[in-house]
Amino acid sequence: MIVALTGQKGGVGKSTTAINLAAAALARGKKVLLVDADPQATARTWGEVAAENGHETPTVVAMGSNMHKPGQLAAVAAGYDLVVIDCPPRHGDIQRSALMIADIAVLPCGPSAADAWALAGTLEVISEARTLRDELRACILLTRKQGRTALGKGARNVLESSGIPVLKTELGQRIAYQEAIAAGLGVTKYAPRDPAAKEIVSLFAELERFLHGEEAPVRHDPQSVVCAAE
Ligand SMILES: Nc1ncnc2c1ncn2[C@@H]1O[C@H](COP(=O)(O)OP(=O)(O)OP(=O)(O)O)[C@@H](O)[C@H]1O
Ligand SMILES: [Mg+2]
Repeated sequence: MIVALTGQKGGVGKSTTAINLAAAALARGKKVLLVDADPQATARTWGEVAAENGHETPTVVAMGSNMHKPGQLAAVAAGYDLVVIDCPPRHGDIQRSALMIADIAVLPCGPSAADAWALAGTLEVISEARTLRDELRACILLTRKQGRTALGKGARNVLESSGIPVLKTELGQRIAYQEAIAAGLGVTKYAPRDPAAKEIVSLFAELERFLHGEEAPVRHDPQSVVCAAE
């Protein structure tokens, strides 16, 4: 399974999700490759911190806009159970390259209307990629949700009309995500009893089911995407 965390908006949790998925799969004994496709090198730096602290790490490699080309990622991906690609917060060659090789594109979206509006551009890029690759799956992951914070009306409209399913799993705004990364760990190891750990386990399982078409993760429940302004 090759999962790409992508989307143009910065700070919505692409790297946090990528690192935690990779770390959770590793902790379950899977062979994991974490592809850092972002020049900011968040995933690489995390891998270095993990190694310095003596933690088991997935293989972390830097790749760019050539990753979809023959002899690049496809050549190494076969040796891994899970490949996670952390994309940069921009549209461009690197993102397109990731979408040419990924099985699933996960689009993290923060809890504000502005976050959801920013998704619109990414949705266009996804649909372009799908005209070239029918098999590319895509889904939206709500992140950084605080308590009962709800999405604005604009956000709901954008998400519901996007044609891309919204995963049932949501990631809360939790300090454990920040602390785990600083410690060179994923939340499932850093704080196994924290709700963050449950969220990541649930996300991993949901993505697997999604890829295998076992469950449609579409959630058009207006109650859970309530208008913040209401
Ligand atoms: N669910 C969360 N709970 C708490 N903090 C979070 C969560 N998700 C992300 N953060 C924090 O928000 C900041 C940005 O997160 P992250 O680096 O994962 O976003 P990103 O989408 O990869 O950003 P960029 O587009 O710049 O690469 C980080 O400081 C991270 O610790
Ligand atoms: Mg990032």
